[in-house]
Amino acid sequence: MALTSSQRNWAVFFASAGLIGLLSAAWLAVSGTSDDNVRLLLRLSARAAFLVLLLIFIARPLRQLIATPATAKLLQNRRLLGIAFTGIHTAHLGLIFYRARVIPDFDLNISESLLGALTYLVIYLMFLTSFDATARALGRSNWRVLHKVGLYWVFVAFLPTLLPDSLGQLAGANGFIILLAAVAIVTRLTAFLASRQRRAQPQ
Ligand code: HEM
Repeated sequence: MALTSSQRNWAVFFASAGLIGLLSAAWLAVSGTSDDNVRLLLRLSARAAFLVLLLIFIARPLRQLIATPATAKLLQNRRLLGIAFTGIHTAHLGLIFYRARVIPDFDLNISESLLGALTYLVIYLMFLTSFDATARALGRSNWRVLHKVGLYWVFVAFLPTLLPDSLGQLAGANGFIILLAAVAIVTRLTAFLASRQRRAQPQ
C-alpha cells in the first residue's frame, strides 16, 4: 500500500529521530552517561543534521548546473531531506533535555540558548509547513519566503558552532564539514550567476 505524502513525512521524521535516538541510547548504555559522552552525541547529531542540510542547500543549484537523473532525484527528494533534518535535530533537542536532566550543574548560556531556541522555532515552522495541506494554507509566495529565509537562517546558525576559535584548530572533522559548506556556498553562487547571465543574454 502506497503511503500518502503526509504519512511519508511522518514516517521519515520518526525514522530519522528514532534512529539517532536509538543509536544514542545504545552508546550511552555501553559507554556510560558521562557528560563527555552526551556532548559527543550532541556534536555527532548536529554534524549529521548539517550534512543533510548541505544536500538540501545545494539541491536546486546543482540541478541548474548539472542536469542528470541523480541531481533531478536529489531535488525531487528535497522535502524529505528537510523532514529527515528535522528528525535528526529533534534528537539533538532530546539530547539537550537529557543532558539538562542528568548533569546537575548544567548551565545554559542564555544568549546562545535564545538563538538556539529561535532556530528551533524556524526549523519547526518549516517542518509544519512541509505538508501539502499546510503549504497550501500558507500560500505559495509566503511558503517560498519562509523556506528561503529559513534555509539561510538555519545554515548560518550552524556556522558559529562549527567554526573553531582559531584557524590552527580547523583540522579534523569540523574542518572537513566547513570545507563542504564552502563548496555548497560556491555551488549556489555559481548557479545564481549562471542564471543571471542566461537571463541577461538577448533571446
Ligand atoms: C537551545 C538550543 C541548543 C542547545 C542548548 C545546544 C547545546 C549543544 C551542546 C551542549 C553541544 C555540545 C558542545 C560541546 O561538545 O561542548 C552542541 C553541539 C552542537 N550544536 Fe547544539 N544546541 C542547541 C541548538 C542548536 C541548533 C539550533 C543548532 C544548529 C542549527 C546547533 C548546532 C550544533 C552543532 C553544529 C554542534 C556541534 C559543534 C561541534 O562540532 O563542535 N545546536 N549543542
